[in-house]
Amino acid sequence: MANVLITGAAGGIGRALVARFFSAGYTVIATDIVERPSDLECAHYLKIDLERTVEDADYAATQFSAISASMNGDGLHALINNAAIQILGGVDSLTRQEWRKTLDINLLAPFLWTQALLAQLEKAKGSVVNVSSIHARLTKQNFVAYATSKAALSGMTRAMAIDLQGRVKVNAIEPAAIATPMLLAGFIDKPELLDDLNACHPSGEIGRPADVANIVAAIVDGSMPFLHGACLPLDGGISGRLHDPG
Ligand SMILES: NC(=O)c1ccc[n+]([C@@H]2O[C@H](COP(=O)([O-])OP(=O)(O)OC[C@H]3O[C@@H](n4cnc5c(N)ncnc54)[C@H](O)[C@@H]3O)[C@@H](O)[C@H]2O)c1
Repeated sequence: MANVLITGAAGGIGRALVARFFSAGYTVIATDIVERPSDLECAHYLKIDLERTVEDADYAATQFSAISASMNGDGLHALINNAAIQILGGVDSLTRQEWRKTLDINLLAPFLWTQALLAQLEKAKGSVVNVSSIHARLTKQNFVAYATSKAALSGMTRAMAIDLQGRVKVNAIEPAAIATPMLLAGFIDKPELLDDLNACHPSGEIGRPADVANIVAAIVDGSMPFLHGACLPLDGGISGRLHDPG
């Protein structure tokens, strides 16, 4: 079955992506910086530091060889650039190091991984899906680095779709709040704030990791060839809401 490569596979949304593609019969090549979670079902698990693949060309070449070796010559049906970090900080405090780390992991790694795997993606008439964020378009205080990286990731998605026309499909999704275990853990002592968060979404609730996995699976299944260079909101309608007093 077709190979699908998922970064950030051990995280909240990554695990849902792995489960969705594994259950659909894909050969899932999962990667993350952490050890393989014992309950993660996938064909291959590779422990890779995305930041190092940006900073260290020799390390990157070794990792890309390992990824290619796990594909058994079949090419790559989908690269899902899901991993990201979120360093919070305002204009007064963000450091050079925080900016570099954010841009390396959230922006340059998706570019360099696509570049390195282009031949395999073309071989399978494959598709890249970048997991961007609502912060690409709408943000709040202290999200300057993260929001900028996601705005650039969405912009890069559109530009790469033009550059790779006729070769590889490139799309992004821009989710709003998704109820990952980590997000929910932040509300354990304040359930009323979680109620407020759910209620402020016109959908009546925030998204689920499975929502993200389902839309990504639909994007890469080949049934929508006109979908190219799109940055799809997955936000329960919140980006249509006007927040002014009264
Ligand atoms: N959870 C949300 O509400 C939400 C909303 C919008 C967008 N997103 C996006 O969805 C994606 C997944 O988010 P999540 O909520 O599952 O986050 P998460 O923190 O649970 O998962 C991110 C994963 O990326 C991995 N990672 C971090 N640095 C890495 C590195 N240097 N090398 C390799 N792997 C690394 C982490 O180990 C982690 O498993 C991200 O792109 C995030 O920006 C999440």
